[in-house]
Amino acid sequence: MADIIDGKAFAAALRESIADGVADFVAKAGRKPGLAVVLVGEDAASQVYVRNKHKATIAAGMESFEYRLAADTSQAELLALVEALNADPAVDGILVQLPLPNGLDENAVIQTIDPDKDVDGFTTTSTGRLLTGLPGFVACTPLGCLMLLKDRLGDLSGKSAVVIGRSNIVGKPMAQLLLRESCTVTIAHSRTADLPAVVRGADIVVAAVGRPEMVKGDWLKPGATVIDVGINRVPAAEEGKTKLVGDVDFASASEVAGAITPVPGGVGPMTIACLLYNTLEAANRREG
Ligand code: GUN
Repeated sequence: MADIIDGKAFAAALRESIADGVADFVAKAGRKPGLAVVLVGEDAASQVYVRNKHKATIAAGMESFEYRLAADTSQAELLALVEALNADPAVDGILVQLPLPNGLDENAVIQTIDPDKDVDGFTTTSTGRLLTGLPGFVACTPLGCLMLLKDRLGDLSGKSAVVIGRSNIVGKPMAQLLLRESCTVTIAHSRTADLPAVVRGADIVVAAVGRPEMVKGDWLKPGATVIDVGINRVPAAEEGKTKLVGDVDFASASEVAGAITPVPGGVGPMTIACLLYNTLEAANRREG
């Protein structure tokens, strides 16, 4: 049976070490690192995420600036807020919660964020820096996946990695991070021919496709390390109930893999921890 990669425990330890880093920053800079989170509209899932980010930010000893704007906020108002946050010396990191309501241009808003405050790693400056090997901010979910992989495997050099999914938020930056670690990287997606055969060649599998329990145990190379980024809500056995499952069929995969992240309790808790990590990093870089 595979070892379980305990993302929840890893994230808790990371958050403690970030809190220590925050204390050092406060002693040096005479202020707290500050994270500004902008939420536009009433999306239920986004409200939960933003509340959790706020709590975690405070718990790490940082300043949390929350901006909740009405769903009918104009593009100009939103851009003006981002520009004000860019100019605000108390703000080290800026996160605009996605998705934005219809009618707002997500890309234009994201690209307005100062790359030095881009703790989500979504600006083209940040993605370009990752691509070219320059220092910059890396999107939180793939960064968290990489931390779990390095904790489990140590040096990743020469390993064969398959990333399933090619989103800008997870798949593409994940592939770039693995390449930076000298893995041989394949990016698979919905049009990949014979996906099971592609996955079977991999020492490392990162599943980020958004398809419940798609990756089966008999697709895996025995001993592979499996990182499941999927969070899918599906009907449970009990009538009227639902449950969360990943993109990997945990029951069959855990019989073949060497190590695997569970859902929930794997990658999920790492995302917020990495947001705090990036915010502390932004604060330290700005104080130089
Ligand atoms: N919506 C869902 N995940 C994310 C994220 O990581 N960052 C932002 N800004 N919005 C999101």
